[in-house]
Amino acid sequence: MKLVFIGAPGAGKGTYAQYLREKYCIPHISTGDIFREEIAKGSELGRRVKEYIDRGELVPDDIVIEVVKKRLNQPDTRNGFILDGFPRTLNQARALDEIVVIDAVIYLNVSEEVAVKRLSGRRICPVCGRVYNIYYEPKPRNDEKCDYDGAQLIMREDDRPEIVRNRYRVFHETFKPIIDYYRNKGLLIEVDSNRSIREVMPELEELLKKKGILRIKPCKPDIKPD
Ligand code: AP5
Ligand code: MG
Repeated sequence: MKLVFIGAPGAGKGTYAQYLREKYCIPHISTGDIFREEIAKGSELGRRVKEYIDRGELVPDDIVIEVVKKRLNQPDTRNGFILDGFPRTLNQARALDEIVVIDAVIYLNVSEEVAVKRLSGRRICPVCGRVYNIYYEPKPRNDEKCDYDGAQLIMREDDRPEIVRNRYRVFHETFKPIIDYYRNKGLLIEVDSNRSIREVMPELEELLKKKGILRIKPCKPDIKPD
């Protein structure tokens, strides 16, 4: 199951990828997460990408492509993976074609109004990376602390309203050619992501099964969307 998730900031790319990763044990590869980890480590790569991320601009193609190429070379990606937030330019899409054959591209379509509210309520566990929301499920059960490890949840630096606005502008300027590229290849699956996770997640799994893309058995069958 080799999937790509595309969508505006707050569309739910990370949320749905995390759910599929936990249920089917396939890696979730988020270029945004990789960059944030490198920034936190203070690595050379982190220093190179920080200014772009802080402004909500796209990181240059050559840097992102190199990172994804390296990651997809790891043995854990052999049975499948979910690419979250890559590709975001036609150059990146063409580079991905040279690396691997993708089964489907899920376009999570969300209105700006819904997504902005989600992002203002997003909270992240700095220890395990789980994503919560103070307005929507999954809400942290206990006072903005992670349900799993009790760590105090944090907000992402680039979820400040002025940076969110710029991320939107960038998304709207760049997403159409990518969507058309994958639609023309017959790989695009569009999902209305304005609805709750409970509605969207089972529908997405069903669609992937029907299309013969989701063929593997769950490694943790009891995992359900919150
Ligand atoms: P990245 O980290 O990918 O950020 P993004 O694209 O802006 O997307 P988000 O992570 O904000 O949204 P999401 O769709 O994952 O939403 P989530 O599931 O968390 O990229 C960050 C930066 O890195 C970029 O700005 C750029 O600088 C750089 N970068 C990364 N990739 C790059 C690339 N390929 N090329 C160039 N630069 C790149 O959900 C949001 C919230 O809503 C959560 O709290 C969640 O709980 C809640 N929620 C989700 N779904 C629902 C639902 N259905 N109902 C109710 N609540 C929901
Ligand atoms: Mg994300």
